[in-house]
Amino acid sequence: MTDAPRAAAPPGSDFKAFESAGWSARAGTYDALMARATAFAIPPLLAHVKPGDRVLDVGCGPGALVAAAAERGAHVTGVDLADGMVEESRRRHPALTFLQADAEALPFDDDTFDVALGAFLVNHTPDAEAAVRELRRVARTVALAAWGPEDEVAFLALPSAAAQGLGGVPDGSDSERYANADPLAALLAGGHETTRSDDAPSGDPGPGEAAPGDGAPRGDDAPRGDDAPRGDDAPRGDAAAPGHVSVRVVRDTLHVDSLDTLWDGIRGGTVRTAARIEGATDEERARVRARLTDLAEPFRTATGYELPVTILIACCPRRAA
Ligand SMILES: C[S@@+](CC[C@H](N)C(=O)[O-])C[C@H]1O[C@@H](n2cnc3c(N)ncnc32)[C@H](O)[C@@H]1O
Repeated sequence: MTDAPRAAAPPGSDFKAFESAGWSARAGTYDALMARATAFAIPPLLAHVKPGDRVLDVGCGPGALVAAAAERGAHVTGVDLADGMVEESRRRHPALTFLQADAEALPFDDDTFDVALGAFLVNHTPDAEAAVRELRRVARTVALAAWGPEDEVAFLALPSAAAQGLGGVPDGSDSERYANADPLAALLAGGHETTRSDDAPSGDPGPGEAAPGDGAPRGDDAPRGDDAPRGDDAPRGDAAAPGHVSVRVVRDTLHVDSLDTLWDGIRGGTVRTAARIEGATDEERARVRARLTDLAEPFRTATGYELPVTILIACCPRRAA
């Protein structure tokens, strides 16, 4: 008797299982570092949310953005691939709705929501185009946040560089693919007819913003010494015409009090770099830690480390409400 042919696993399924397990395991430790950095994106994303809006947050993690949108008077739903994140969100915000779901196949009818948000989602989905198509299908307006170019997101780039060469991560998504305004805008446009505008005047970005597409560090992003998100009074992307993608660049600085905080925060707040470190031998891990110490040295101050963060916020209103 011959074995029946085994159905091929869907593309990206290993990576999704890896992500789901990795984020579930980190739901309780996410706040120590990662949530402090992703919080910089909350005010500029909320600029696209009005009281009374039906809002979906996809890849909601432990639910901070969902809770902030609810405080703004929106009717909110959060979804995440990782059961552990969904459980943590429900535990923290028992009055709000959280569901387990894959961004690439959302369990909602067309146009169920006014706004769909995806904060640091598209660099975690094997098929980001499918995920964005789903966000656009279920909501009139879609707003995404993504990390900027690696050399402008030091709290992630330094540990990642220190762990380079170590294995333990299945092929899945390219974390750098949407790190510049042009590819992120094209992703959000999703093959639809769009125009594109950038909130910052080209060639002369205002404080906390820069012209997208250039990726170059600016002189205006000097460390501020606190974690307060900037720019929540920025122009609203959804003031643009339907089908018009706007991208803005938010720059801030993450204060980390010690190398231990960075090291523990990365192990408890990322999946890919953490997996490389966890899978290493003791000797390799000690080498990674020593490399990180050297790489972080230029960012050291009297009180710890001041690590620059660049975030892109892209918005596309599909059509008027
Ligand atoms: C870097 S965390 C961002 C969490 C939160 N949005 C924030 O800004 O703090 C990425 C989140 O995306 C979730 N995720 C990854 N792949 C996903 C998918 N295919 N569908 C839904 N969520 C996904 C992860 O489980 C994780 O909670």
